[in-house]
Amino acid sequence: MMQAEEATTPDDILLRIDELATHFRTPRGLVKAVDGVSLTLERGRTLGIVGESGSGKSVLARSVMRLLPRRNVNSTGSVRFEGQELVGASEKVMRDAWGPRMAMVFQNPMTSLNPVMKIGTQITEGLRHHLKIDKSEAGATALALLQSVGIPEPARRLREYPHQLSGGMRQRIVIAIALACGPRLLLADEPTTALDVTVQAQILDLLADLQRDRDMAMILISHDLGVVANRTDDIAVMYAGRVVEKAPTAKLFSSMRMPYTEALMDSIPRMENTPHTRLKVIGGSPPDLVNPPPGCSFAPRCRYAQPQCHEEVPPLVAYDEGHEYACFFPVGSDAGAEALERNIAKPETKGTS
Ligand SMILES: Nc1ncnc2c1ncn2[C@@H]1O[C@H](COP(=O)(O)OP(=O)(O)OP(=O)(O)O)[C@@H](O)[C@H]1O
Ligand SMILES: [Mg+2]
Repeated sequence: MMQAEEATTPDDILLRIDELATHFRTPRGLVKAVDGVSLTLERGRTLGIVGESGSGKSVLARSVMRLLPRRNVNSTGSVRFEGQELVGASEKVMRDAWGPRMAMVFQNPMTSLNPVMKIGTQITEGLRHHLKIDKSEAGATALALLQSVGIPEPARRLREYPHQLSGGMRQRIVIAIALACGPRLLLADEPTTALDVTVQAQILDLLADLQRDRDMAMILISHDLGVVANRTDDIAVMYAGRVVEKAPTAKLFSSMRMPYTEALMDSIPRMENTPHTRLKVIGGSPPDLVNPPPGCSFAPRCRYAQPQCHEEVPPLVAYDEGHEYACFFPVGSDAGAEALERNIAKPETKGTS
């Protein structure tokens, strides 16, 4: 008799996040940092996650990696990586996953390096632990890794300490450490924010090259839509702990539906802007995550907002192949155009700020 087919994740889906919520208990109340996020990532693909400061990008990445504080946190929902459930997984399962299966590059390279340990030791430690190789083999692998991340004079660098390197070089080292065990997924959380613009582009290009060579999937997190524009297959836009729009990258740029995405787009620095011109920033500030406003959390800042938006939470709806958004009066729609006209005629129907 044929066995019923097991409900496994299809082979091409590397990561499937379902209704993931991570809430922190604080003296002020419950902070809903991530509040019902669902996303999928196929093998070898790149997903960009964008949103302003405080929108929950880092907490989402840490929830996937299970790198959350031990206390006062509650994380629910599902994170299936290569078919294995990670929410509620034991520490042993996670320790085996970090390195060979998933790795993370953090925003500030200085905090992820040990200042009193030589670069070489920092790289070989993980290699020896995970790959069970001897010291000399680990040394040779470390040398090859530094070469692959474009570090000149790698043998000398292995004997140096983090403070002897520039910010860009340090971030290359952090990337080398993350890649050391050949992860299937790299989470890069604002990997270039601490670096100047030229170095930023070099590091992003390096990540793209490494990803292609290694057929590795990547989640690239940034507050800047411009950074993820040319370097991702899909983009998810986050606001106040939720995904408010997601789409294949080209579609997001050609036909965005969320007013928040439009506002982020307007704040991308452009080449034609002369240096020192002020960028358009999004008016108002992100909501308090302890006491969020009723309705759509972007409504108080939205130029399209109507009374309905202050009362009801818009659900994430499917629009086009792979494109979803959460808005009652979307950009580019008749309803959106009418809402905008009404707000221009009667500005008080708009949000409060
Ligand atoms: N350990 C914690 N305890 C309480 N609240 C937290 C904790 N960690 C994060 N938060 C809150 O969760 C929210 C989301 O934070 P998160 O760091 O994910 O934002 P982000 O989108 O990564 O922002 P940024 O662009 O500044 O890095 C913030 O309001 C933050 O204050
Ligand atoms: Mg962050």
